[in-house]
Amino acid sequence: MAKPKVLILAGGLSHERDVSLRSGRRVAEALRAADCEVAETDLDNRFFDQLSACDPDLVWPLLHGALGEDGSVRDVLELSGVPYLGSDPRSARAAWNKSVAKTLIRRSGQATPDYVTFPQSLFRQLGAAPLLDLVSASLGSDLVVKPLYGGSALGVTRVSDPSQLPQAMMDCFAYGDIALIERAVLGTELAVSVVDLGSGPVALPAVEIVTDGPYDYDARYNPGRTEFFAPARIDDQVSDAAAALALSAHRTLGLARISRTDLIVDAAGVPWFLEVNVAPGMQETSLLPQAALAAGQALPALYRALVEASIAA
Ligand SMILES: Nc1ncnc2c1ncn2[C@@H]1O[C@H](COP(=O)(O)OP(=O)(O)O)[C@@H](O)[C@H]1O
Ligand SMILES: [Mg+2]
Repeated sequence: MAKPKVLILAGGLSHERDVSLRSGRRVAEALRAADCEVAETDLDNRFFDQLSACDPDLVWPLLHGALGEDGSVRDVLELSGVPYLGSDPRSARAAWNKSVAKTLIRRSGQATPDYVTFPQSLFRQLGAAPLLDLVSASLGSDLVVKPLYGGSALGVTRVSDPSQLPQAMMDCFAYGDIALIERAVLGTELAVSVVDLGSGPVALPAVEIVTDGPYDYDARYNPGRTEFFAPARIDDQVSDAAAALALSAHRTLGLARISRTDLIVDAAGVPWFLEVNVAPGMQETSLLPQAALAAGQALPALYRALVEASIAA
């Protein structure tokens, strides 16, 4: 293929702006190294001018958080008639809503922790105490509270005693109006990335995440707090089950080209689906690049192959 012209869309106004900008820079560098023509743009009022000035063969949306992952920017790209890399707006929307994703995953026969979702207004109307008592009585005391829509573990708290729930809810509502409260899974945390270079989705080696505390924003983006093992130190059977879950999530939600499923393998070897990301992080410490390197794939060649497959589709 002649030199593809790619417009990287990164930044935006979400809490994950900096992460997105770093992802954008890394992908741009890799694509330039793979002999692509690359321009970069942010999501602001110059976007449409830059889009027409660049006239790209493909836009690669690397926005994290809302707008980038909730399908709306993909809707704009569809309306603009410009080809883009990755999932369509409807599929992105289903993945972004952790409750919708979990429902579809469970219907497909895969495991995901029991949960409830409550908007902040319900707490105001019913009172927090009786509602949280009900949650603990039904789901137990080992819980994770997270925003229904979110990323980078922002607003996510692990709770091991009901007395910690009110503060966890407050921290969650700082990031969004709806909280998802789910059973905590004890075990090995893995991320399984899926790429589709045109001949169907393929799971990359699982990456194992080991932290000295919660795998929170700080642990993700500050070197030293987290140890990654790529590939994960798991036996083949567990590795196959984790890959099957990630492929099933990718297919069940109708995702395209690239995704990353976050999961925890319990003591019995069962992988539990937490969420799937349509715009996984792509900076140097991110999970998908680590998985690709573990598979022996050079990032420039992989990213160019993703671009070419998307343009040809
Ligand atoms: N049910 C759970 N049990 C144990 N840990 C969890 C659970 N849900 C989330 N976590 C922890 O919180 C982190 C962030 O949760 P995740 O659902 O992946 O949301 P985000 O979109 O913020 O990445 C996970 O990487 C994991 O470390
Ligand atoms: Mg996650």
